Amino acid sequence: MHDFKYKNNELYCEAVKIADIADKVSTPFYLYSYNTLLSHYRKLAAAFRALSPVICYSMKANSNLAILRALVKAGSGLDIVSGGELYKALLVGCDPKKIVYASVGKTEEEIRQAIAKQILFFNVESLSELELINRVACDLGVNASVALRINPDVEPKTHSYITTGKLTNKFGIDLDTAYNIFKNRAEFVHLKFSGLHMHIGSQIIDGAPYILAIKKMIKFIKRLKEEAIDIQYLNIGGGLGIIYNNEKPQTAEEFAGKILPLLKSTGLKIILEPGRFIVGPSGILVAKILYIKKTPLKNFIIVDAGMNDLIRPSLYGAHHDILPLQKAPAGRAGRESGKRKGLTWWARYANPGTSWLRTGKCLSLMKAITWR
Ligand SMILES: Cc1ncc(COP(=O)(O)O)c(C=O)c1O
Repeated sequence: MHDFKYKNNELYCEAVKIADIADKVSTPFYLYSYNTLLSHYRKLAAAFRALSPVICYSMKANSNLAILRALVKAGSGLDIVSGGELYKALLVGCDPKKIVYASVGKTEEEIRQAIAKQILFFNVESLSELELINRVACDLGVNASVALRINPDVEPKTHSYITTGKLTNKFGIDLDTAYNIFKNRAEFVHLKFSGLHMHIGSQIIDGAPYILAIKKMIKFIKRLKEEAIDIQYLNIGGGLGIIYNNEKPQTAEEFAGKILPLLKSTGLKIILEPGRFIVGPSGILVAKILYIKKTPLKNFIIVDAGMNDLIRPSLYGAHHDILPLQKAPAGRAGRESGKRKGLTWWARYANPGTSWLRTGKCLSLMKAITWR
C-alpha cells in the first residue's frame, strides 16, 4: 500500500499533484510520501507489539536526513554501517541506545567513535573484529557491548546479490566459532556480550527461512544457557520483501504471526532491522523524457535520470513500474499504445494504456526507491 494515486488522470502524492512539484523543482527528483513511510514503520511496530521490540531502521536502505528524522521522531532506532551513518544518526537526534552497528569492515576510527558515543552495541562479524573492539575499548578505558552476528547457514530464496545468511557469504560467524568465542569470553576483558544477531538476506517474501534461522538461534541460545551464559538481546535483522511487480510478500502481521511464538520463547529483548519494507514503497523518482530515439531494431526513451539515480534495474535487472504524471484522457490511450511497440528499457516497464511518450513529458519510476 502506498499514497501515490491518480485523481482525474493526474498522479498525486498524498494530496499534492506531482506535476506541480515537477514544475517548481525541475526534474529529476526523488519524492517521498511521509504517510507511506510512517504507516510501514507503524505496521511493523503494531504487528510485533506483544514483544515491544526495538525497531532499528536500517539506514543503508535510504539515509536521506528527512526520512531518518521522521522515523526517529516516530520512535525508531537506527541500524548503521559506517562512521558517516553514525554521524547522520546522531545529527537527526537518534538516541545512541537505539543504534546498532553492523558491517563486516568497521575501521578502528569508526569503532572508537561508536564506543565514545555509547551505542547500544556492535553486531560483530568476525573474531578479528572482536579483538579490535576489545583493544579499542581497553584504550578508551571502557567496556563495549557486542552482539555476535551468527551466520545460520540458511537459504533465504532471494537474489544471490542480497543473500547474506549462507556460509558462502562473508557475513557473520558460524555457530561453532561463535560458541567457542562465548566459552572464551573472559579473554575479552573489555567486552560485554549482550546478544546475538542475524540477517539472512533481503527481499525475502516468505516466513520459512526466518523460522529455520530463528530455530537455529534458539538452539544456540539453549546451548549458551547450559554453560550459564546469559545474553539480553536477539536481533533478527531485516529482510522483509516488498512488491515491485507481482510479488506476493508476507504482510507484517503474517510475518509476526509465524515468528512471534518462537521469539517469545527466548525471553530476550527483540530487535528488528527493517530497511526496504519501511522506505521502499514510500519513494518515487520523477524524471522527464528528453528524447525518443528510434532505431531499426527498437526505440529508446532517454530521460534526465540515470543509473546513478536508480541503480537497481541495471544492477539486478530489477523491475520498477513507470507511470506518467498525466494520463491520457480515455480514448487516446488505445491509439497511443500501438506506438509503443518495441520500446525498451524504461518503457519496457511501462503500464499499458497510458500516454506519455512525448518529449518534455514527466514520468515517475514508481515505488521502492532504495539504494540497493
Ligand atoms: C545487517 C543488515 N540489517 C538489516 C538490513 C536491511 O535489510 P532490508 O532492507 O532488506 O530490510 C540489511 C540489508 O542489507 C543488513 O545488511
